[in-house]
Amino acid sequence: MSEVFEAVESAGRPELAALQLQRLKATLSHAWRNVAPLRRRFERAGVQPGDLRSLADLARFPFTTKADLRDAYPFGLFAVPREQIVRLHASSGTTGKPTVVGYTRADLDLWANVMARSIFAAGGRPGDLLHNTYGYGLFTGGLGFHYGAEHLGCSVIPMSGGQTEKQVQLIADFGPKIIACTPSYLLTLADGFAEQGIDPASTSLRIALAGGEPCTREMRAAIEARMNLQVMECYGLSEIIGPGVAMECCETRDGLTIWEDHFYPEIVDPATGEVLPDGAFGELVITTLTKQALPMIRYRTRDLTRLLPGTARTMRRLDKFAGRSDDMLIIRGVNVFPSQIEELILKSPALAPHYVIEVTRPHNLDEVEVQVELRPEADNDAARSRAAAELRHHIKSFIGISARVRVVPAASIERPVGKAKRVVDKRPR
Ligand code: DLL
Repeated sequence: MSEVFEAVESAGRPELAALQLQRLKATLSHAWRNVAPLRRRFERAGVQPGDLRSLADLARFPFTTKADLRDAYPFGLFAVPREQIVRLHASSGTTGKPTVVGYTRADLDLWANVMARSIFAAGGRPGDLLHNTYGYGLFTGGLGFHYGAEHLGCSVIPMSGGQTEKQVQLIADFGPKIIACTPSYLLTLADGFAEQGIDPASTSLRIALAGGEPCTREMRAAIEARMNLQVMECYGLSEIIGPGVAMECCETRDGLTIWEDHFYPEIVDPATGEVLPDGAFGELVITTLTKQALPMIRYRTRDLTRLLPGTARTMRRLDKFAGRSDDMLIIRGVNVFPSQIEELILKSPALAPHYVIEVTRPHNLDEVEVQVELRPEADNDAARSRAAAELRHHIKSFIGISARVRVVPAASIERPVGKAKRVVDKRPR
């Protein structure tokens, strides 16, 4: 059995199920007693906490969505008096008001604990130097990794996002083993090293704790080869706690172990809401089992994946995310995930992994343009038109849509500081 941060990570399934049931009952009662909008929704659905006798009974309870959080803006779903909240975070939505989340002292301890567990699972150990590039502030990435790494006993460099030149200098001077970073910012950093005449494969970095946005297998392989490190994927969302919900384990690297003693997962059909069996693809729904300030009952994450049996831990794994149900593009009736286009770009040796997908609707017909950079070493007119024709052909034959491909010079696409925005949908709503 693998080395674990806490014994519960390798608890037997029956023991884990008993713990989940006991915690689920407590969470439902806590939410019912203290969150009026939630109680009203339970009543409308004709259920009460006492109706939960087995884990399967959870399917009878109503879902919570991002819209519920927005309707209760800012503090309406909190289950404790505001004075007991010791920290607030918020995630900016694409429209309207941000989603606000709150933490009690115990919630912060829980978060630091699941983050320490995650960093340990990825191969981090007490005493390791960890360079944190996630944004500090309302975003949960920066402080989430910060307190988790400190709790584990790492030495943290609280760099936050941006200032790539300075990041490069500090990494070169301090020699951290671990970097916490979005996958897209890892690419920006690799370019930053190269610009300063440092081979990105020659740095001290060995482990990247990468999350906050999707990353295809192809993108990950490209980053690993260029930077000579292991990209370990981590997953989380503000509404549930922030990063620290699930993490890849270094022993197996076969999907993300979800910390099931704190976050109860279900997979549902995104259209009907029906619960699907383990192994089937669908939308991840999470119920928090131990949170005080903001208990979440059946939160619809919109993230598409499936549940797999445990390997490095007894807890189940989440398969690599296929995308989000709300970032699937429907192009003239064909369902397209941006990750499918990314995979094809990464297959082309002439193209760099920097791209933007723009969707428009002139004359009532969807049109897609993929702008992608040429690798610096291949930057000439002939290579550009050959790469464009090839990618256009691959998109047509593998995905089934006709896209315009514009291959642009190296370094001409704007580099993200935190999460990358790779799709610009200009179609009228
Ligand atoms: O992104 C929390 C986080 C920070 C996770 C740093 C990992 C590392 P939000 O800003 O609320 O929270 O965004 C959550 O990001 O629902 C997914 O769609 C996406 N996401 C997060 N991690 C991954 C991942 C943070 N490993 C939303 N793979 C989630 C794919 C991810 N998508």
